[in-house]
Amino acid sequence: MPFSSTPSPYRCKLPPGPSAFQPWKSNFAVQHDLLFFLNTLIQTYGDTVRFQLALWPAYLLNRPEDVKRVLQTNSHKYDKDVLFFRMLRPWLGNGLVTNLEPASWLRQRRLLQPAFHKSYIAAFDTIMTTETVGMLQCWDVDGEGSRPLPLLHEMQRLTLRIASRTLFGSDFSQHLDPFNQALIEVNEFFLSYLRFPFPPLRFPTPRHKRFWRAKRFMDSVIYEMIAHQRQTHEERKDLLSLLLQAKDEETGEPMNQQQVHDEALTLLAAGYETTATVLTWFWCLLAQHPQVEERLHKELDDVLAGRLPTGADLLRLPYLRLILEETLRLYPSGWLEMRKAREADELGGYTVPKNTILIWSPYLLHRHPDFWVQPERFDPERINLPTSLYQQAREADTWIPFGNGPHRCIGQHFAMMEMTLLVATIAQRYRLLLAPGYRPEIEPFITLGARQGLPMLRQRR
Ligand code: HEM
Repeated sequence: MPFSSTPSPYRCKLPPGPSAFQPWKSNFAVQHDLLFFLNTLIQTYGDTVRFQLALWPAYLLNRPEDVKRVLQTNSHKYDKDVLFFRMLRPWLGNGLVTNLEPASWLRQRRLLQPAFHKSYIAAFDTIMTTETVGMLQCWDVDGEGSRPLPLLHEMQRLTLRIASRTLFGSDFSQHLDPFNQALIEVNEFFLSYLRFPFPPLRFPTPRHKRFWRAKRFMDSVIYEMIAHQRQTHEERKDLLSLLLQAKDEETGEPMNQQQVHDEALTLLAAGYETTATVLTWFWCLLAQHPQVEERLHKELDDVLAGRLPTGADLLRLPYLRLILEETLRLYPSGWLEMRKAREADELGGYTVPKNTILIWSPYLLHRHPDFWVQPERFDPERINLPTSLYQQAREADTWIPFGNGPHRCIGQHFAMMEMTLLVATIAQRYRLLLAPGYRPEIEPFITLGARQGLPMLRQRR
């Protein structure tokens, strides 16, 4: 499809980019190493690049003001109706992430938003620390472990247990392991299916049959949990009960069963791997920067003196927060974002024809040398740099690990609290060291994975 010829209210000025007649080249690059491909485009053509993404005309954006315009200022001109989100719908249905119809998404977002208020989230602190202690008890039994542990998998298992327990409450214990196993299976299936979506899902190949079996199992458990909660009427504090109580402000209507199901599955899928990935890179950076680690240990010892952290400790651990924020800058798990132009617009002096796909990478923006001093350096204390050097980057919305505007991550406070409590619990008992000879390397796909799951050794403090 060539660039739209619909008359635009703007004088047509298109950004530079590779020839639109070589889509196979960019398709190969997209399959092969998308982040490298995007970075090469920026180095070659500048911060706004036009290229062909399979059949679609696309712009790559690398100026914070352009991304802000798409996500916030002019967000009504853009939607999420792109192939990537469409492909996730057989799995996630019509939940917040894959609801592509703006009016229906807004209604759902309003219904869900109160459940993510800080006051509700604060009540999940015990689940978060209890599950972490459970993991540490397994580490204790396992010994310090002379064999390296793929940390990403360990963090995934932990964040998934926390996500499902906060969503479904304590009644879920009997389902926890098989349900989480099915979720991981479906997630892994989708990782490979998104790379090569053939044959279509309705063809009964053995792989597809396994996917549908795991999906049916998860669906049946979620519907059972919904039915159980509707029957019991007891006062509960889990996220599912908040979803069931939510009522539309205007109509007073609650969500129907299918919507509650889709939102529950979406919260699980959107919440666990993103958080696990950031935590994995956190431990990697800490192992590589012993002075930062030492200062973190001091803060934890001073504030907690060996006890478990609670939600009330979040503000008492400012250095830990800085390390997390700097990790999110260098390794934002949502490293690639995209939208489609519903109508023509203008970005950075260039015309955006209707139906153009807009792509940007928080990973690249967070390392943009025009906005960050020594962008590749891990420096949790950037905040102490002169205002002109640091605030400028934050105020220009150059730090966007949780997105921006109306679609900003609904789980941001949940994730920050979870990461703080997990780190504060683990770092009081264990140090994590990179496996000898291992060189950390990103493996960007849906989230910002790590080669071999980042093998690390555990050492008791
Ligand atoms: C460190 C962890 C996390 C990161 C880096 C992260 C990142 C993001 C980003 C960048 C977006 C915006 C996507 C876009 O604009 O298209 C987003 C949206 C979303 N996130 Fe997160 N997220 C994290 C944790 C969580 C958690 C824990 C939950 C749930 C408990 C969650 C649920 C969601 C949902 C439902 C959306 C869609 C919001 C909407 O479109 O209305 N996320 N997340």
